[in-house]
Amino acid sequence: MISTRPNIGVRLAGTGSHLPENRLTNADLTKLMETNDEWIVQRTGIRERRKIDRAKGESTATLAAGALKNALAAARLNATDLDLIICATMTPEMECPATACVVSALVGAGHCGAFDLNAACSGFIFGMNTAHDLIKGGAYRTIAVIGADTLTELMDYSNNGRGTAIIFGDGAGAAIFRATDDTTKGILAQGMHADGEGWKEIYVPHEERDFPKGIACDTSKYGYVQMNGASVFKFAVGTFPELIQQTLDKANLTPDKIDMYVCHQSNARILGAARERFGIPEDRLYVNIDRYGNTVGASVPLCLDELVRAGRIKDGMKVMFLGFGGGLTWGSSLWQM
Ligand code: UT7
Repeated sequence: MISTRPNIGVRLAGTGSHLPENRLTNADLTKLMETNDEWIVQRTGIRERRKIDRAKGESTATLAAGALKNALAAARLNATDLDLIICATMTPEMECPATACVVSALVGAGHCGAFDLNAACSGFIFGMNTAHDLIKGGAYRTIAVIGADTLTELMDYSNNGRGTAIIFGDGAGAAIFRATDDTTKGILAQGMHADGEGWKEIYVPHEERDFPKGIACDTSKYGYVQMNGASVFKFAVGTFPELIQQTLDKANLTPDKIDMYVCHQSNARILGAARERFGIPEDRLYVNIDRYGNTVGASVPLCLDELVRAGRIKDGMKVMFLGFGGGLTWGSSLWQM
């Protein structure tokens, strides 16, 4: 990798997460639509997900702020130590201001920079790569990257939406990255990709012009995620192994040299297929989709936080982060911790 300041390394200083308490189990879903636990578990691996409670004031920003507070505590930092907050989300608090600005106010981060990044399920990966290279460039020393999403707000919990509504859940995770004199730490290889032609595979229509050519406008779909599940599944199963191989090749490493794979939790079957293809042992590719479903931008940092807290990601390890989803987007970030 070319770096403008080769004498600066980047380290992970702390992680945190925050989940709504309210659980939406597969049994709960059977009361809302024609579905069953067996179908959901077999097709996705999901048993329950979390759902925000608007009446309690929960939102993307409150989840994000909760995750950031926990990450700051783990890093033993104050909010005013942050130079920048990047919030990866496709379900922002509102159109303006950026959710990152609301979060900054909630945690008391003063005048640090704050902006949102929307790359759907790849958002946190794109955020990590951005934060790393901004620190490496020398202009920022401490950056918080948050992945926060509340997709349950965009679900049609009727039979019409059952193919999509069963997979998504709410949550937030955060990580703080800092400059270090240890130049061995930081990204060894990364990639950020998109195929804009694939936007029509996952979108949220709000008016007639939002529907792709050939799809009739249907006002009952306004405000709900429209996902071509089978097509996204095919894209993910093909792209995921390709992305792992490309990232390994860039770093000149073999799959067994990676201590942990931290992947977007989209579907347990997609993760299982990639694991088998590369002969990755089960304990090196983390799966928590059974407990949280697909939390979009939050899924990678939620896994990261659980792994760090369990002592399964430590200094000195090589960790590969992978994401793919709406856009269509896909990306990777391979770290020397
Ligand atoms: O993170 C963002 C990226 N998103 C993804 O990675 C999602 C990728 N896609 C998937 O994970 C899968 O496509 C889903 C889990 C969303 C759907 O699984 P599938 O195996 O692709 O199901 P399908 O949509 O092809 O539907 C198969 C059958 C259909 O019935 P028929 O036509 O075969 O009789 C559906 O009507 O299953 C039926 N079905 C359901 N049955 C029970 C669809 N949804 C449900 C449901 N419960 N919730």
